[in-house]
Amino acid sequence: MGAELPERVVRNTDEPISLLDTTDEWIRSRTGIERRRWVRPGESTGDLAVRAGRRALDSAGVADVDLVVVSTTTPDHHSPGTAPWVAAQLGLGTVPAFDIAAACSGFVYAVAAGDAWIRSGLAKRVLVIGAETLSTITDVSDRGTAVVFADGAGAIVLRRGETGEAGAVLSVRLGSDGTQKDLAVIAAGGARWPDAQQGAERGERCLRMQGPQMFAHAVRRMTEVSRGVLEHVSWPVGAVEAFIGHQANQRILDKVAELVGIPPEHCLSNIRSVGNTSSASIPLVMDEAVRDKAVDPGARTLLTAFGGGAVWGAIAMTWPDIRLSI
Ligand code: UT7
Repeated sequence: MGAELPERVVRNTDEPISLLDTTDEWIRSRTGIERRRWVRPGESTGDLAVRAGRRALDSAGVADVDLVVVSTTTPDHHSPGTAPWVAAQLGLGTVPAFDIAAACSGFVYAVAAGDAWIRSGLAKRVLVIGAETLSTITDVSDRGTAVVFADGAGAIVLRRGETGEAGAVLSVRLGSDGTQKDLAVIAAGGARWPDAQQGAERGERCLRMQGPQMFAHAVRRMTEVSRGVLEHVSWPVGAVEAFIGHQANQRILDKVAELVGIPPEHCLSNIRSVGNTSSASIPLVMDEAVRDKAVDPGARTLLTAFGGGAVWGAIAMTWPDIRLSI
């Protein structure tokens, strides 16, 4: 396990957030966020991914893996993918490496991919990294997104093992609904609208979100998929000892936990100090929980996420026995 947060702290009371038509009180009460980290100009998703990846490799005590997967909504370039560069920076040579674009569900999708490579025999060890610099695609004059999104990276090393071992991935469920693609979209800059260069059009190169609609879909899908994965592993809801949802909004997390039936003492969250870091959010919570020794190795754990696409997923696993490198 490894994580990385950029140095720059932006509180609700700091510019540019404080310049918006909003208040610290509104942001705290409607999202749970007090502060977040944003990169400084020149610092990229790949840079954060390399630092988190290095820590994960050190913590696992390994120098090589068979696959590197980087989930990100903010790749360093449209092309090539960020993962090969990250792998090279980590000294992993010519290992297979690719990106996954599954927005805020990216980490769950990337773990699913790594898990599948291992189960199929294609890989014995996989480095999975969720890394984002959402500040680079945020319109800081848009209060619907600027108060929410943030930067960071988290990484894990998956390895082949036994079901009874701490850290076993027991079940993965994924889903998508492309009819909802406009809920959270960067309209311009891609093949559908490549030439938005001037004036207001330039703003369409930033992420726009239909917040309340996204909220409703997130609650519905994370609740459904969490129930589905619990059913698949035959855990009664009372068996879940650690629940980590994508850190989209504290009110979403509370609602999903309530609907699924998980008591607050089993819900882990760091949105207050980290904000919504999209596909980095789940591993960032995991890293913090490992540091705090908040969960016992082997504890029954449920992860779930929802993001633009729309895409969602859930994983039932046991809490890993991790020694952090730093
Ligand atoms: O990460 C991927 C998944 N992401 C999500 O699922 C995000 C889901 N959405 C959200 O987290 C929330 O919808 C937001 C935080 C984006 C917005 O919160 P909300 O509680 O849904 O606010 P709203 O858009 O329903 O607006 C409620 C009121 C409105 O005012 P009126 O019409 O009631 O007078 C808005 O104009 O709050 C106003 N408002 C704000 N006020 C101060 C909206 N945004 C802000 C703001 N500051 N930043």
